[in-house]
Amino acid sequence: MSSDLLSGKVVLITGASSGIGAATARACAQEGATVVLTARREDRLAALTEELNAGGARASYVVADVTAAGDAGKAVDFAVSAYGRLDGAFNNAGIGGDRTPLHLMSDEVYESIMDTNVRGVFNCLRHELAAMLEGGGGSIVNNSSVGGLVAIPTAAPYIASKHAVIGLTRAAADEYAQQGIRVNAVAPGTTRSEITRDWFGRNPGLEEVANSLTPQGRTAEPEEIAQAVAWLLSDRCPFLTGTVMPVDGGFVNK
Ligand SMILES: NC(=O)c1ccc[n+]([C@@H]2O[C@H](COP(=O)([O-])OP(=O)(O)OC[C@H]3O[C@@H](n4cnc5c(N)ncnc54)[C@H](O)[C@@H]3O)[C@@H](O)[C@H]2O)c1
Repeated sequence: MSSDLLSGKVVLITGASSGIGAATARACAQEGATVVLTARREDRLAALTEELNAGGARASYVVADVTAAGDAGKAVDFAVSAYGRLDGAFNNAGIGGDRTPLHLMSDEVYESIMDTNVRGVFNCLRHELAAMLEGGGGSIVNNSSVGGLVAIPTAAPYIASKHAVIGLTRAAADEYAQQGIRVNAVAPGTTRSEITRDWFGRNPGLEEVANSLTPQGRTAEPEEIAQAVAWLLSDRCPFLTGTVMPVDGGFVNK
């Protein structure tokens, strides 16, 4: 179903090669946006771009690692030079990392999670905000997690990183509200993707535990998160900024 929610908008999506990012790229394209996909895996990006263009959308990709400030800038620069401006961005790229009790957690796990999930969003925000200031406004959505609102066990650096994403969201929303830039976050609950396939594969029973803690009693499909993101990116919610929207089957409401 298409409703042209994002008709005429140029939207950048990070971590678009799989999971929630790929689903959001499809949703935004279906809603009429021109989409610029970024991630590290070129084969996946090329295949999704081809699929979207074959379906009548306007899509391009830029290979970029969000931990490198230059790469984040390259993707934003591409969007502006190819399509004239940047209206929306979904800062979604992230990693789950190993699930381990906090006292056993390694420096490497901590550093890789913070580098991707926090520095990555910070890098993207700086370039996106600069482009949106030039263009006269825009809407940014950061992908946090229910782990940005409450604790989940054996994932301390992930929890800290997702709380930090909410901090960045609030700071940016506050700073740029007068310039027509809205910044919000989504906080997905357990969602089918490569991260959860990895976590569930290595921790038998974890999916059942997560589902039992979710009032709706199930894992989300990435498309369910994508619909919320598309709406936040659209002009349908002009007075909404600095918020965190749980998309979690009621998990944080318990
Ligand atoms: N799946 C869940 O249950 C869940 C719940 C809450 C939040 N999230 C968040 O959703 C986001 C997307 O994850 P997903 O669940 O779709 O998993 P996923 O592994 O399918 O997708 C993650 C994407 O980020 C990309 N990525 C990772 N590191 C990157 C880097 N340095 N530079 C560029 N791209 C990079 C990956 O290649 C992939 O495209 C993450 O931020 C994750 O923390 C997921």
